[in-house]
Amino acid sequence: MKESFVVNGLAGERTLRGDIPVRGAKNDALKILAASFLFQDTVTIENVPDIDDIGAMANLVQDIGSAVVRTERSIAVTAPSTTSTKLDRTMAKKLRASVVLTGPLLARYGQVSFPHPGGCVIGARPIDLFLKSFEKMGASYRMDDEYYHIEAKDGKLHGADIYLDIASVGVTETVMMAATLAEGTTSIRNAAMEPEIQNLANYLVRCGASIEGIGTPTLVIRGGAVLSAKGEVYRVIPDRIETGSFLILAALAGEEVRVTDCDPRHIRALLSLLEQAGVQLTVEHDAITVRKPARPYIAVNVKTHEYPGFATDLQAPMTVFLTQTEGESLVFETMFEGRLNYTQDLIKMGADITMFDPHRVMVRGPRMLTGRELEGPDLRAGLAYVIAGIIAKKTSNIYNIGHIDRGYERIEERLRAVGVDITRVTE
Ligand code: EPZ
Repeated sequence: MKESFVVNGLAGERTLRGDIPVRGAKNDALKILAASFLFQDTVTIENVPDIDDIGAMANLVQDIGSAVVRTERSIAVTAPSTTSTKLDRTMAKKLRASVVLTGPLLARYGQVSFPHPGGCVIGARPIDLFLKSFEKMGASYRMDDEYYHIEAKDGKLHGADIYLDIASVGVTETVMMAATLAEGTTSIRNAAMEPEIQNLANYLVRCGASIEGIGTPTLVIRGGAVLSAKGEVYRVIPDRIETGSFLILAALAGEEVRVTDCDPRHIRALLSLLEQAGVQLTVEHDAITVRKPARPYIAVNVKTHEYPGFATDLQAPMTVFLTQTEGESLVFETMFEGRLNYTQDLIKMGADITMFDPHRVMVRGPRMLTGRELEGPDLRAGLAYVIAGIIAKKTSNIYNIGHIDRGYERIEERLRAVGVDITRVTE
């Protein structure tokens, strides 16, 4: 079954109106599913987005022995007391977050076997820092053609002082989880500080873990016994990437749009740039309203950075925004070397973009875009194409929307509710 989106563009008109609620964060919900292996009892997760990546991760944890009960927005997951600890190749290759499972599995059961993780093709995405960290914690690994096999000496990881060469989100989460069940104390220096990591760490602490420095670049974790949720519910935080993408859409095509159920504190870097560009924003505790501007927007430079800097996951929608601002903007993608390739399609739609190297492009605006046939290259760029299609003149057909469904819940229904002309076509 092949599916695509047909978007009839607004040709630069700003007509969208109404409220658009943000769902729970994919990259938070995925990680607590992995963390469930640190628990002796059931972990109940609320505000779970109904997206394909969550289905894939739930299947994976179920496949290695967990009991999973899922309703539309909640999941109850109970880890087994023993398991095979070998991740199914096809299932694990569906998503990058599968690699995060290695920490809890290794810490709890003493070993883990897994294939190189899949996920969006946005760069090389090696796993060297995971392997190095596990070695520091006393594990050894070997590889055969399809799998990495990691084993903790005498079945138990021990605490270590770990400096991360890159403040990696996945490695910080994985090592933090592993360290909660290790013997002794682990320090993670140059740790990532993303809100999803903080939410996970705070929950682990509520359930018995000892983690200091949450939200700072140094985490100190004292290892202890298997955790117990004792009915404590995990509430997934609002998706800050979805929030930001809706704000960008509202700025480009909105008469008055209110993005609700969000946490504005998590997207300060974006709000600062949008304000500098001239976007009219009213920020409340859990909602942000965007109103039609009195003057044209002006160009701003964007450099992606670890949190609290500008999120790489918002870079593609932001570049679409910059095609509509007056002047020249430099976009510097510092994190992933394949994450500006989608700009070739924006150029075909009429954008004036020059690529200097795989990490840097110059956008000159404003340019009217024209709808066309587009092939969603990854999750975030896929949604950026939808936004480009909405502001363009004429019709866009966006294929490969499986990527979009991996991360955004029934996006077409939610966009239609604010006035977007978008239809899902099933062949
Ligand atoms: C997470 O990926 C997110 N994915 C990504 O979102 C996001 O783009 C990224 O963090 C950065 O914010 C999930 O949470 C599932 P990293 P992650 O390790 O953890 C390099 C989306 O669309 N690196 O922080 O994989 C790596 O190649 C996705 O939802 C190593 O070199 O990102 C990259 O250049 C896309 N060796 C940099 O670190 C390693 O062992 C930062 O990546 C690990 C990472």
